[in-house]
Amino acid sequence: MSEYDRPSAPAGALRLHLNENTGGCSPAVFDVLQRLTRQHAAFYPDYDAAYAAVGDRLGIPPEWLLLTNGLDEGILATAAAALRDRTRPGAPQGITLLPAFDMYEICTEALGGDVVRVPLGANFAFPKTAILAAVTERTRVIFLTNPHNPTGMPIARRDLIEVAERVAPIRVLVDEAYADFGGETLVDRALIPSHPNLLVGRTFAKAYGLAGLRAGAVIGSPDALAPLRSIVPPYSLNSWAAAALPAAMADRAYVEWYRAQAEESKRMLTAACDRLGLRCWPSAANFMLVDAGARAAAIARGLAARGIQVRDKSKEAGTEGCLRITTGVVDHTRRLVSALEEVLCAAGE
Ligand SMILES: Cc1ncc(COP(=O)(O)O)c(C=O)c1O
Repeated sequence: MSEYDRPSAPAGALRLHLNENTGGCSPAVFDVLQRLTRQHAAFYPDYDAAYAAVGDRLGIPPEWLLLTNGLDEGILATAAAALRDRTRPGAPQGITLLPAFDMYEICTEALGGDVVRVPLGANFAFPKTAILAAVTERTRVIFLTNPHNPTGMPIARRDLIEVAERVAPIRVLVDEAYADFGGETLVDRALIPSHPNLLVGRTFAKAYGLAGLRAGAVIGSPDALAPLRSIVPPYSLNSWAAAALPAAMADRAYVEWYRAQAEESKRMLTAACDRLGLRCWPSAANFMLVDAGARAAAIARGLAARGIQVRDKSKEAGTEGCLRITTGVVDHTRRLVSALEEVLCAAGE
């Protein structure tokens, strides 16, 4: 059974390995947190303001929203709701892409399901036909990510909707952890009510910089969310996260700033890869996948020796030879690029 391999980073290292907002959260959010009292720690949280603010920001009624302890919990609840479904025959299966975010596979296995991995197509193309062909009567849930992790590449909205429609009533979770940076969203008032097998995941860990507070959301029709509500514990989101969300939703300028930083960072890293002869893929997220071939692990070590952590994916199936690098705050990307040049220069390239 797989387990999440939680990557570490030495204190003080520049963390470009987990796609976080390395600029921190909005200062307005931090002000709110600093004003919280001992009672906030002592009392169970109230969620009304957080639901209203997030619903308003996403343009949906609060009844279409389930706030979770990070999107990880939303993935776990989706897997639990789907895999316990006894209305279909056979041992339950969950479909995930290869490569994909680890938690789909981990949660499916943890809940007793079998994992079916559908490889991405050539040049990481979305394998719509292969996904549809992989569906059997045992399939209970399909996990998709847009923009995709670890490639950063966007998936066309019409392809996602087609998959959801053709496999209904099998649940489809479209994980939009990085949708704040680009790509087309399925959080849409016209779409959600007519697609009761569709769930959309969001996180406030990335663009909003709240990874340490643990705050995510699953969006779906009230009927689609009902089985998840019965699984997620009543006070799953802690008081600090609940208090932070309204302030985070209100500070649109902060998210815009970080989105613009990510755009500029992607331009800088793409240009550096061109200069250095490394292949990379266009990303709609706040990270990029870089193909460093046989040198990948040595480059990751060289960057780590210079205080920069990147995610070495070079030994993982589907991302052989690749590094995944957060492209957020421009100053941090500048440091990365000069360290990358230094490492390759030291290696005589
Ligand atoms: C695709 C994807 N989904 C979900 C998550 C988890 O989000 P959270 O931190 O809100 O649990 C991540 C985190 O890296 C991710 O990359």
